[in-house]
Formats: sequence, structure tokens, C-alpha cells
Amino acid sequence: ERLPELLSLMPKAELHIHIEGSLEPELIFALAKRNDVQLPYADVAALRSAYAFTNLQSFLDLYYAGASVLLHEQDFYDMAWAYFEKAKADHVVRAELFFDPQTHTARGVAMGAVIEGLSRACRDAHTQLGISADLILCFLRHLSEDEALATLEEAMPWREHFIGVGLDSSELGHPPEKFARVFARARELGLHCVAHAGEEGPPAYIWGALDVLQVERIDHGVQAIHDAGLMQRLADSQMPLTVCPLSNLKLCVFKNLADHNLGQMLDAGLCITLNSDDPAYFGGYLNDNYLQTFAALHLNAQQAYKLAANSIEASFAPEADKHRWM
Ligand code: HPA
Ligand code: ZN
Repeated sequence: ERLPELLSLMPKAELHIHIEGSLEPELIFALAKRNDVQLPYADVAALRSAYAFTNLQSFLDLYYAGASVLLHEQDFYDMAWAYFEKAKADHVVRAELFFDPQTHTARGVAMGAVIEGLSRACRDAHTQLGISADLILCFLRHLSEDEALATLEEAMPWREHFIGVGLDSSELGHPPEKFARVFARARELGLHCVAHAGEEGPPAYIWGALDVLQVERIDHGVQAIHDAGLMQRLADSQMPLTVCPLSNLKLCVFKNLADHNLGQMLDAGLCITLNSDDPAYFGGYLNDNYLQTFAALHLNAQQAYKLAANSIEASFAPEADKHRWM
């Protein structure tokens, strides 16, 4: 009966959080009012009741609609600050935030407003909350590689404000190979590389992320279970997987949390981490993911320590910080 306390209180890193996915309905409505943006929902309750997803795409449609209220630097700051307050309560010591610049620049929002707002929140999280935080710029994989390349170049004036690049949005039909050149460019620039792979997509997309994009972590990766050779590769290399159980549940990747394969992947010796993905949409922040997953899968304290240690080890924080947290 001490396990929930341990899960809640232990220091942990969050490595898979889309900051636009932390936008709660209340803040969406507050920003809509502040910015005079019209929403196709009458109120917070009507919006929240639309959060019934059948797959990744059905979620993404609402996620992009919610992000339409973000216009100014302060909006991005306020969104990230609200997340950091939740993260603090969950004993998150390190957060690596995904952001989707193309979702905003396509609406005429300046790249500088996006990055400077988020970056200022990261700095304040460090000084005021003691959370170490950095940004990872994600390319939308339903758009072209040329658009991703243009986005990376457009962000170069703010090169020191983000530590890596990622790949998100609609997975099926958009394999990692489509983004080979932009990830090669990111590596040249000294950026860390991660990619969503094997959330809904096949094991081949995980192989592609590893071999073609040369990523340092796989985001999700739960479909690896269907490929024994890939499981061996992931175990041997200790390639971190940023697994998001409540996301997988809400997007119907698994029918019940009790069906989730995280326990099997831990038992197979993979470097698994637990994360929230889009907490405002999937019904829980990081500790909710730990608590509900441990209850559903009957995991133990040793596995709790392992997941927390993995999260810190797999982070891109300076080694000195990692040692302090472990
Ligand atoms: N998968 C892909 N793209 C995303 C996700 C996700 O879980 N969340 C936000 N963008
Ligand atoms: Zn994600």
C-alpha cells in the first residue's frame, strides 16, 4: 500500500509530452476569449465531451483545433507554465517538451513567438520550480520533407533554444524514410534526434527510425512486440522507448490498460520509460500514468525504480544533473 506514494514522490523525467497536448479546455477557452478566436464548441463541457477518440487521427483533428487559440508569445508561455505547475506536483525533475511549430506558423504565428514563449517558460521552470526543461522541435509527418527542411531553417535564429528534433502527427502512410534528409541535416547541426514510431505504424517504421533517421530514442514503439528481431535489437542496444499508456488506451492502441504490453517489454529487458503524451486530452499527467498503469498491470516497486531511473538516464540532461537525480 506504499506503492502509490513511491510512484507519486519519486523524482522522474518526462520525455514524451507534446506541450500543445497539455492545453486544458479551460485554458483553450480563456485564450480564445483573450485572442477573440471563435471555437466550434459552446463551452468547456461541450469541448471536453468531444474527447472520445477512436484512433490517432481522430485525436489529432481536435488537438490541432485546440491549438488554434495560440497566437502570441505570452500564450505559449502560459500554456507551458501551466504544464510545469502540474509537472512540479508530479515530482518531475526533468522535462523535454515537444512542440509543433508548423501548426502555428501555418496560421501566421511568428516562429519567434512560439519558441521565445516556450523557452521563457522553460527558464522560469528552472529558476522558480527547480525543473530542468528543454525543447524538442517536431516535424509534422503528414506534411512534406521540404516543409520540414524549411521549418528547421526558419528556426535557426533560435538554434540555442532547442536541443533536438522529433517527428509526430499521422504515422500511417508517412514512414521515417520520408524525412531522411531533414534528420541528416539536424544531426549535422548537433541536434538530438527522436521520432514517433510504432504507435500505430508497423515494426518496419521502428527499424526505419533507427537505421535511417538514426534516432536516440523511439517515441511509443509499442508495436515492436510483433517483431522478435526488433525486440532483440532494442534490448541489446538499450534504445529507450518513451511509452505513453493512457494515450495508447484513449487512442485505442490497446482495448484495456490491463492489455498494455509495457510489462512484457520490461520483462524482455527493454529500456522503457513512462510518459503522458497529451495529458489534457488523455485524462492524466505523469503520475496518473504511473498510478493507473501500475494498478492495471500489477507492477512492483522494483519496476517503479527501474522506470524512473530509465527516464533520467534516457534524458538529454547533462550527466552531472542525472547523477544528482538518481
Ligand atoms: N502521436 C503522433 N502525433 C502526436 C501525438 C501522438 O501521440 N500527440 C501529438 N501529436
Ligand atoms: Zn506523442
